[in-house]
Amino acid sequence: MAEVKMIAVVGGGQMGSGIAQVAAMNGIDVFLHDRDPQVLSKASSSISSSIHRMVSKGTISQTVGVDALKRLRLTTNLEDFHTADFIIEAIVESEDVKKSLFVRLDKIAKSSAILASNTSSISITRIASSTTRPRQVIGMHFMNPPPLMKLIEIVRGADTSDDTFAATKALSERFGKVVITSQDYPAFIVNRILMPMINEAFYTLYTGVATKEDIDTGMKLGTNHPMGPLQLADFIGLDVCLSVMRVLHTGLGDNKYAPCPLLVQYVDAGRLGRKRGIGVYEYSEEPRSTNS
Ligand code: NAI
Repeated sequence: MAEVKMIAVVGGGQMGSGIAQVAAMNGIDVFLHDRDPQVLSKASSSISSSIHRMVSKGTISQTVGVDALKRLRLTTNLEDFHTADFIIEAIVESEDVKKSLFVRLDKIAKSSAILASNTSSISITRIASSTTRPRQVIGMHFMNPPPLMKLIEIVRGADTSDDTFAATKALSERFGKVVITSQDYPAFIVNRILMPMINEAFYTLYTGVATKEDIDTGMKLGTNHPMGPLQLADFIGLDVCLSVMRVLHTGLGDNKYAPCPLLVQYVDAGRLGRKRGIGVYEYSEEPRSTNS
């Protein structure tokens, strides 16, 4: 595949905005789409303040920062994606919603374009089956926040071609990331291991074993994790954690993956974590899409 010159990202939430920022900072023109214009304007200011912070800390040069901001274009019109070489989807973690988006992307995107999903857990093979180009569909799972985290987990669907894999790996390396590769099984590598731990932290809270603060302090100081599991769940988004647990539970068919009722209740109550100002903890400040 020829060098990727234009990337398009669907979903301007915490992951999509961070992915667009990574692409722009690495000299690639990028379209960022969300159906909600308010999300796009929030994404634009959070990308701009993150880039300014990175420049003032010396993480990137002024020239790179200014260039990145020029490369970013916001759009509520998905049709603008027809010029993109590589499209990365980062919308809500729902198989049905992602599949209907891929049906549309397949029609809009040029025939050579690769369609990647940033899904945390959903089958790439099934997403790909909603398109006429399953060989050009792949999982490209960034970690949160994308500008800071070094890892990209690439997931090959049953039909993903070697060329698609090679182009996605090359792009990830151009972003300065380290790549790991997973086969297409529920929640892949990182979330297969991480989410049951987070779910267990909810069970520990739910059954009254300890306070949320002691659970988080225990895991931070007892296992040298930078964040406790409940804090991390708030950072990821409790809706995302619940969706991943449901994919694990359904896909692997073992009751050990049953989502904790307290996690379900928080999501039902709209306590989605930092992005909503309340999850396990309450947050007085507006959350940032990156903590750079
Ligand atoms: P988010 O809730 O912050 O953002 C999702 C965005 O998608 C929202 O702005 C919403 O308006 C938009 N959206 C929903 N349906 C749409 C559609 N049909 N067309 C256009 N825009 C649409 O969610 P977040 O956290 O950014 O997650 C996005 C994806 O990334 C999910 O698949 C999630 O599992 C995955 N992910 C999340 C991580 C995290 O730590 N939050 C880490 C790695 C992957």
